Amino acid sequence: MSKLNVLLIGSGGREHSIAAFLARSPLLGTLTISPGNPGTVSLGENIQSPGNKPELWMPLIKQRSVDLIVIGPEQPLVDGWADYFREQGLAVFGPSKEAAKLEGSKSFSKEFMSRHGIPTAAYQVFGSHNSGSEGEAIDWIRQNGHFPIVLKADGLAAGKGVFICQTLDEAADTLHQYQQNQTLSKAARQIVIEEFMEGEELSVFVLSDGSSWQILQHAQDHKKIGEGDTGLNTGGMGAYAPVPSANQELLEIIENEIIRPTLDGMRAEGHPYSGVLYIGLMLTNQGPKVVEYNCRFGDPECQVILPTLENDLLELMWAVSQENLYQHTIQTSGKIYTCVVLASKGYPGPYETGFEITGLDLASNDEDTYIFHAGTKEQSGRVITNGGRVLNVISAGNTLQESISNTYKIVDQIHFENEYHRSDIGRKGIRSIKP
Ligand code: AMP
Ligand code: GLY
Repeated sequence: MSKLNVLLIGSGGREHSIAAFLARSPLLGTLTISPGNPGTVSLGENIQSPGNKPELWMPLIKQRSVDLIVIGPEQPLVDGWADYFREQGLAVFGPSKEAAKLEGSKSFSKEFMSRHGIPTAAYQVFGSHNSGSEGEAIDWIRQNGHFPIVLKADGLAAGKGVFICQTLDEAADTLHQYQQNQTLSKAARQIVIEEFMEGEELSVFVLSDGSSWQILQHAQDHKKIGEGDTGLNTGGMGAYAPVPSANQELLEIIENEIIRPTLDGMRAEGHPYSGVLYIGLMLTNQGPKVVEYNCRFGDPECQVILPTLENDLLELMWAVSQENLYQHTIQTSGKIYTCVVLASKGYPGPYETGFEITGLDLASNDEDTYIFHAGTKEQSGRVITNGGRVLNVISAGNTLQESISNTYKIVDQIHFENEYHRSDIGRKGIRSIKP
């Protein structure tokens, strides 16, 4: 097979990790990352983003003779970029606009699950953009709601659209905020009101080429900013993979009750799913139920999943784009990887940037250790902080405990002013296997 020129779209820690594993492939020709980050400079060529419409990318794609486009983040997928590139005859890793609706519209995904008998929290959908429906929603909660109750903006809201409300007043306030808050109001044209589910969360990642699929890996994220899963939701403060307590029996239930009906359902509705499907699950007393679907890799879950794979990532992504995934078998090493996110103090609220990062070179001479950049910038030969989530530190172990302690050893060597990280990443995974 001739070498493949790849364009990877995105700039976060997720894309740095994808670039790192694509760069290892003997099948790789050139790798273009757009826009990329200071960490991806050594892995390919970083090119400034040509713009926020796929047609603006065509000159770059032609000039670099791109064979495969890998779309990292959800927004371009939900906006239909994969469809546009496919119409231009290009191979793409990422779902179509209709398939990406599984993430792009929570009301679509709930109604889809209901049509296909896929276990998820009980729900109601309301329009929120006129006072009538806000009133309808609150009346419904008053009459039928059990607290806590979960309110969700229908559209993409960068992790900020979900609220767990403890009282009727809080629910009324949240409904009101959906209308008032400028960034939320577009995503909240419709809102989903959902039963609160109790249990451990598990994220399962599935590769699907539209006809065949395989579980890639499972992982556990840490969404809250504070120790012990407290405080505000973030994009994710750390993760580990695989999850030791996710045994074969549980995975078979998830395959039969959730993954297969989801992918068969999408195909039956005329929108076969191609790419990676990230299924967020709650392991409840009544069995696993879907919290949400995402149409791309998780960030920071991707950073711990990719190191566990023994396959060539480019070969798998190409197979997905060519609809021949069935020719491959996903194999993992058995090692466990932990990722700790180093963030700017203040995140997910306002924070300062521009602080020099030291210790990056000290930390990176072990083949099972990775430091991925998420919010950094290069300035006069120095790497400085440039975002809320700044760096991802990843290391391995034969057990979760060993992987956690190896990771924190590296974390301790990296410094920047106003640095914040959680010191309990992975601990809940140890707890759940030793009740
Ligand atoms: P989502 O964006 O839908 O994944 O929601 C963000 C987070 O809110 C999830 O990871 C869960 O921790 C929590 N969450 C969402 N829906 C529910 C629910 N029905 N019950 C309990 N927690 C939920
Ligand atoms: N870490 C959560 C997400 O990527 O959605």
